[in-house]
Amino acid sequence: MSFGNKMYVSALVFCIVISVARCSGNLGFPPGFKLGVATASYQVEGAWNVSDKGESIWDRLLHTQPSLSADGSNGDVACDSYHLWRRDIEMAVELGVDMYRFSISWPRLLPSGFANYVSEDGKRYYNNLIDGLLEKGIEPVVTLYHWDLPQYLQDLGGWANPLIVDWFADYARVAYTLFGDRIKTWLTLNEPLIICDGGYNKLWAPYLDDLKVAAFLCNKNVMMAHAKAYRMYDEEFRPLYQGKVSFPNIFFWFEPETPADAEAAVLTRQMWHDRYAHPVFSQAGGWPPELEKVLLANGKREGYPYPRLPPFTQEEINYVKGTYDFYALNHYTTRLVRRVKPGEAGSWIFYGSEEINVAIVNDPSWTTAVTDWFAINPTGLRKQLHWINSTYGISDILITENGLPTFEKDLLDVNRITYIRSYLEQILLAINDGINVMGYTAWSLMDNFEWLAGYTVKYGLYDVDFTSPNRTRTPRESARYFSNLTKTRTLTDDNIYYLRNVTKNTKALKTLAIMEC
Ligand code: BGC
Repeated sequence: MSFGNKMYVSALVFCIVISVARCSGNLGFPPGFKLGVATASYQVEGAWNVSDKGESIWDRLLHTQPSLSADGSNGDVACDSYHLWRRDIEMAVELGVDMYRFSISWPRLLPSGFANYVSEDGKRYYNNLIDGLLEKGIEPVVTLYHWDLPQYLQDLGGWANPLIVDWFADYARVAYTLFGDRIKTWLTLNEPLIICDGGYNKLWAPYLDDLKVAAFLCNKNVMMAHAKAYRMYDEEFRPLYQGKVSFPNIFFWFEPETPADAEAAVLTRQMWHDRYAHPVFSQAGGWPPELEKVLLANGKREGYPYPRLPPFTQEEINYVKGTYDFYALNHYTTRLVRRVKPGEAGSWIFYGSEEINVAIVNDPSWTTAVTDWFAINPTGLRKQLHWINSTYGISDILITENGLPTFEKDLLDVNRITYIRSYLEQILLAINDGINVMGYTAWSLMDNFEWLAGYTVKYGLYDVDFTSPNRTRTPRESARYFSNLTKTRTLTDDNIYYLRNVTKNTKALKTLAIMEC
């Protein structure tokens, strides 16, 4: 057989294998796999000063420096979910999801930031939302902190002040006490990387420029705060309610550009992932060892009298270690890593390439969505799930966010469907490999306030008309896709045929043709 023929036969065999896998139901979700959608308080609630709500760091930032957001907007009204929560629940019902992940606004529940006073309206709002979801058989998954810190606590030093560990635990106790009878999945702090490396790198509120010191102080405090909230639940609330607690880590999957960059990739993962995972998920606990050494040496060279990354005591290591019931993963994209070339400055959106001398780049073969930080590489997710499993010995993983940004209103959002489907396929392959991915949460239920991108970037399964006073929500094609998915619970061709039938559109059909073998 000629080489060309061999290639043809291999391709044919590959196609048959894939088709058999699809038809034989290998691409069906296992029983118990949950499908959900997510939002976050500042991004959807609005009602920034309604009733006795306190000011958050996002309110302060965008009221004092409106030009920081791409369109000069803010979350004052956002999707107005504070008033339109019934419609939000209705949309979750339309989608047929098993779970809805939302966050509690700390300053809405505790206007002063402290547990001295609990807002009745805040309580009522979250009780309504939780009860409304439960009435429809949808599990509320609650994030305690999705970045809207009470401004007063920021004035006292925010996440750089170690006292925040107690402030956060007090807040967590209030939330567990009020809602713990109905919430079975708690997420403490959304993406600590963004809280520290974003907040002190003028990328997110409080928009400070203090990477060399404050960001590292923040690192330890977020880990301690999570651990305290976890341990409190474990001791005081788990015996009553049997819920589970973790925190969503954002994790760009980092691959070495060439085999020679393998070590650089290890250090890169330590810098932007393990700094927020090793203390909790590793057997040894504490900071990732190689990174801790590098940062210590860099700090010494620069004359700092103390380690900038504050060391944990042995007692603290033991306190933080093991404070999880599953791994919560927010995954969007992949990057290649290599050592910097002589004379080249490492750079990336987040601080730190210069500390570890790496460059973070895109593979030119990957397509990018609206922003170039967003490279689409679905296989990265499967690799990452394996990596989490083998590095930390964790099998139970919940995908707490995944989704595609677009600029256009585009109700026929075929790219989003393709993205979600291709990432789900990698999840199913990982499940078939033996990893217990417990569920998938699409970001986002609807378009919302996308931080400093304002309303220019859209992630919603539902379009939101931000010019209409009632913030009209309209399902995109991806919402129909998702609601079909929650019914069929499979990625077999049914979904593709379904799409072909509903969309009847050339753009869609072209994409679908690519998706098929
Ligand atoms: C955050 C969301 C954000 C999304 C898209 C995630 O990292 O948790 O709040 O909207 O990314 O940028």
